[in-house]
Amino acid sequence: MALMNFKKGTITITADRFLVEKVLQEGAFHKSLKQFRLPNEQQQAMLRALRTLDVDLALAFDGETILGYTMILPPEADERWSQMAQIKVLGVIEVAIPLRNQGLASALLTKILGARSYEKDILISLEYRWHWDLSSVEGDSSLYKQLLQKLLMKGGFEEVLTNEPDVMAYQDNFMMARFGSEITSEEYLRFFELAGGPTTNLLR
Ligand SMILES: CC(C)(COP(=O)(O)OP(=O)(O)OC[C@H]1O[C@@H](n2cnc3c(N)ncnc32)[C@H](O)[C@@H]1OP(=O)(O)O)[C@@H](O)C(=O)NCCC(=O)NCCS
Repeated sequence: MALMNFKKGTITITADRFLVEKVLQEGAFHKSLKQFRLPNEQQQAMLRALRTLDVDLALAFDGETILGYTMILPPEADERWSQMAQIKVLGVIEVAIPLRNQGLASALLTKILGARSYEKDILISLEYRWHWDLSSVEGDSSLYKQLLQKLLMKGGFEEVLTNEPDVMAYQDNFMMARFGSEITSEEYLRFFELAGGPTTNLLR
């Protein structure tokens, strides 16, 4: 578990399934964790996902307050990504507003990626401008894109071009992927064909 200073207490970061479930059950989301849903709704959704889907979750918490979270989950059945069993989705990452820009998202990502081996997996992250909290960058979505790319690159992600309509809908939307070391060249090829980007994807 990673520990950092937070006011007078400490922040624990965990991806341990048992502890994650216990904290989700007994703790409460910080009131500023409302980028995607109301805090309590998001907390219940995480708990439901943990119990019903093949997900991995990492939480940052201090006492009973949950300060940040991230999740890796299977693609939705109707998404093109579900055509390859190797693909998993880094679904969301959110940090409480007072704790931002202090390395918490980076620590959450490190923790979730270290919790088990993803060497046989292709992790993808689809990033849409309409999900972002642009108030932290004075509305500058290209700066926000850089921030997120930097964050994901630290976790071993690289940009992937795709013709996914939602990614193409806005110039700052983007997609990144992290290829496990045991992904074969056939799997790479299949993945890039599935992504449907220009052929430059295939020249790696
Ligand atoms: C995106 C988000 C998760 C980042 O969390 P965080 O804990 O602030 O991130 P970190 O502190 O680990 O910083 C990651 C990188 O971004 C940079 N960064 C963070 N906030 C920044 C800001 N406001 N301006 C410029 N750079 C910033 C950091 O400097 C760091 O880069 P570095 O490692 O080179 O120093 C957080 O802002 C958030 O919860 N946003 C709302 C939800 C969201 O948009 N999630 C992403 C899509 S799912």
